[in-house]
Amino acid sequence: MLDAPEFSPPALSGQEMHDQLTAFSEKTTPYVFSLKGKLLDQGRTDSVLAATDDLTIRLKIYASGGENELHAHTSEDHSFMILQGSAKFFGPDDEEIELGQYEGIMLPRGNLYKFFATSEEPLVMIRVGNPNIHKQPKPTRIGRDGNELRGDSKENKSVPVIFKDGAIFGAKV
Ligand SMILES: [Fe+2]
Repeated sequence: MLDAPEFSPPALSGQEMHDQLTAFSEKTTPYVFSLKGKLLDQGRTDSVLAATDDLTIRLKIYASGGENELHAHTSEDHSFMILQGSAKFFGPDDEEIELGQYEGIMLPRGNLYKFFATSEEPLVMIRVGNPNIHKQPKPTRIGRDGNELRGDSKENKSVPVIFKDGAIFGAKV
């Protein structure tokens, strides 16, 4: 019997993300997950929903105006799919495209990109990546200069998280 889908708590640091991705990848029997997440007034959260050695599924939530800095994942293909809100994605030469609900982007490994949450409501996205972090050589995430650029760093525009009072993405109204 499968357990009921559980709300996944966000990983609040790079180390927590690494630990969650590794812990999920050790599961070898089927399990279910929930796409629900706490909405934000400031900052961003990243929750692991499911993972194997070769596949990761995460829920990413950004407050309106939230953004990151230009970076590439050297050894990971990944894709974002927007469930709520909109985001403008930029390439290394400032080429840009705005995506909205039910639209997505595929970023094959090595491509520089950044994005910005353009909607007034928080941006909610599913991120699917391959492979899992422990199968990627370090550094896994680099900036334009080729040096490591950690997701939880100030350089990557990380700011403290402020949750929106009681607002949950995916909750039945
Ligand atoms: Fe990224």
